Amino acid sequence: MHNFEYYNPTRIVFGEGSIPRLADLVPADARVLVLYGGGSAERNGTLADVEAALGDRRFQRFGGIEPNPTYETLMKAVEQIRREKLDFLLAVGGGSVVDGTKFVAAAVDYPGDPWHILETRGKQITTALPIGAVLTLPATGSEVNCAAVVTRKALQAKLGFGNPLLFPRFAVLDPVKTYTLPPRQIANGVVDAFVHIMEQYVTQPANAAVQDRYAESLLLTLIETGPQALANPTDYDVRANLMWAATQALHGAVGAGVPQDWATHMIGHEITALYGLDHAQTLAVVLPNLLDVRRDLKRAKLLQYADRVWGLRADDEDARIDQAIAQTRAFFESLGVRTRLADYGIGADAVDRIVAQLEAHRMVKLGEDRAVDLAMSRRIVTACL
Ligand code: NZQ
Ligand code: ZN
Repeated sequence: MHNFEYYNPTRIVFGEGSIPRLADLVPADARVLVLYGGGSAERNGTLADVEAALGDRRFQRFGGIEPNPTYETLMKAVEQIRREKLDFLLAVGGGSVVDGTKFVAAAVDYPGDPWHILETRGKQITTALPIGAVLTLPATGSEVNCAAVVTRKALQAKLGFGNPLLFPRFAVLDPVKTYTLPPRQIANGVVDAFVHIMEQYVTQPANAAVQDRYAESLLLTLIETGPQALANPTDYDVRANLMWAATQALHGAVGAGVPQDWATHMIGHEITALYGLDHAQTLAVVLPNLLDVRRDLKRAKLLQYADRVWGLRADDEDARIDQAIAQTRAFFESLGVRTRLADYGIGADAVDRIVAQLEAHRMVKLGEDRAVDLAMSRRIVTACL
């Protein structure tokens, strides 16, 4: 196992009926901005619960943060905060709202154009407003990490950034608030969390027994609870286990002291920026092909994954790896997430465009060994057609 530092200051309040806890989680004298998305939080009563819990604190709303949140929209929230002198941000929604709130938190007092935050991947952030999160969509883990991804529509650029100042102070997770998710978002969440684990697990062996078995337990939980959540949307225990698995997938423990890949995510972000696919749809397309192209490097962990997660026992090792990759693809498809670019109406001309985007964003040394150059990305994307 490599040396590591494990730091996660986000306080997690989990369970049915936990939203009223905001009454003591948000500082009593805070001037709050409640940020939310396109209306789901309003429709399912989450926003009303949040505002009731805020009591007589001063608060304002900022709605309309879109999936794959944009710089253009978020800068309006920045202006509102500066104008109204607000000092605490409460994100109510899915990963897009939480990510967008992180950008706003860093942008308010950022010297110069806040797009610089994306260009420098968050490294030069020195101050950020405090954030709290009320999560309504288990998927990204954004509620308990310090990373975010923001799109600038005008540039067709979707870029990630991170900084320890952006950890939410707290994350409130009430599984009941996920009952209203449409099937597509339930499935997206399962796939996203699954791929987060795979990016930290199917790399190279690091003699990290705890991290490996933790990853496997989360993968098995997602394989079990994903289809159950689609079949029985109001089963509390299913939703609770799914929510906790998704949060844990990107909380830090799975990836501590082990190699991490993330090439699937970086290629996926370019596909979303160009073609508007949901984040998880891009991952379902890219991951199976990335595993295939990188099967020599990842051989030992692919065999471990085949054995411990899918129980595959074929004598021939390559056959076992083929089966594990096929099982992964079949799992995504079984949830209703398609795994070919063609399924989304995208043809062969996409390959040049995606590779050009990767080059423009300096994504030229991806993967745990930094060997995914543009030529290898081209092979992976070509296999996705
Ligand atoms: O906008 P509203 O009306 O709220 O509807 C949303 C949205 O349309 C809806 N939704 C959320 N909770 C709901 C609900 N509908 C009914 N009932 C509920 N309880 O779901 C739709 C998708 O929401 P979104 O927040 O976009 O989804 P998700 O949580 O999957 O977030 C995706 C974003 O997170 C980024 C992605 O790139 C993408 O931009 N990621 C962030 C990461 C991080 N910070 O660590 C890691 C991830 O890899 C990912 O890149
Ligand atoms: Zn993701």
